[in-house]
Amino acid sequence: MNNAPIGIYDSGLGGLTVWREVRKLLPEESLSYLGDGKNCPYGSRSRGEVQALADAAVGRLAAEGCKLVVVACNTATAAAIDFLRAKYAALPIVGMEPAVKPACLHTRSGVVGVLATERSLDGDLFHRTAARYGRDVKVIARPGHGFVELVENDLEATPEAERMVAAAMAGMLEQGADQIVLGCTHYPFLMETIRRVTAGRGVTVIDPSPAVARHTAELLDKWNLRAEPAHRPEYRFLTFADDAYRERLRRKAFAADIA
Ligand code: DGL
Repeated sequence: MNNAPIGIYDSGLGGLTVWREVRKLLPEESLSYLGDGKNCPYGSRSRGEVQALADAAVGRLAAEGCKLVVVACNTATAAAIDFLRAKYAALPIVGMEPAVKPACLHTRSGVVGVLATERSLDGDLFHRTAARYGRDVKVIARPGHGFVELVENDLEATPEAERMVAAAMAGMLEQGADQIVLGCTHYPFLMETIRRVTAGRGVTVIDPSPAVARHTAELLDKWNLRAEPAHRPEYRFLTFADDAYRERLRRKAFAADIA
């Protein structure tokens, strides 16, 4: 038994979509969420830059006494997960899985769409996964240009958001994609808009965060790190930005605005 917090990290607000699933599945666990905020967005930074930022973030969560860290950022996972696991070898680290496998298994049309940041899409992890599971499937990957900025600026429910989402998804929808993977943790905040854009097309939108929460639970069991069943959880919010941003993290975490 270990009542220390689970650390959850993202470039900004996006990892709160994972935070929410972890909290739902593991209600007795304390959670310390670090949303960088100062260096967001990560999506078009170099791999080396993202690695250094992820190192600082995981180092901070380790110093805060976290017993396990979830890298709730596809971009940081793609750029740095092997590096982080080697450097923080005593700390179990969960990364984001591009949910290309379930999408390829479930497609009926044989076309799968993936939306993610540029840095995630040019990473080995995405290429390996797409090559492994997408052999008989057409995988169409597109960057969600501007999506992270929409979420960071609370612009999810605007006509501008709908225009940008429709533009990013037009090609994959025209080519018949019936499974669309959200490969960036910010994107589920745009779920309502994405559902409007895909309405009537028989499209399944896949948010990988529930699977990441399940993997976190498995890892807690494997390392024997579960909190006591009666433990009263504490929720902390950390950032490399300012107090106002930390307050935004807290508010967004508890808002019921994730579809
Ligand atoms: N939430 C991050 C991800 O999953 C967004 C990266 C960014 O800041 O561009 O990739």
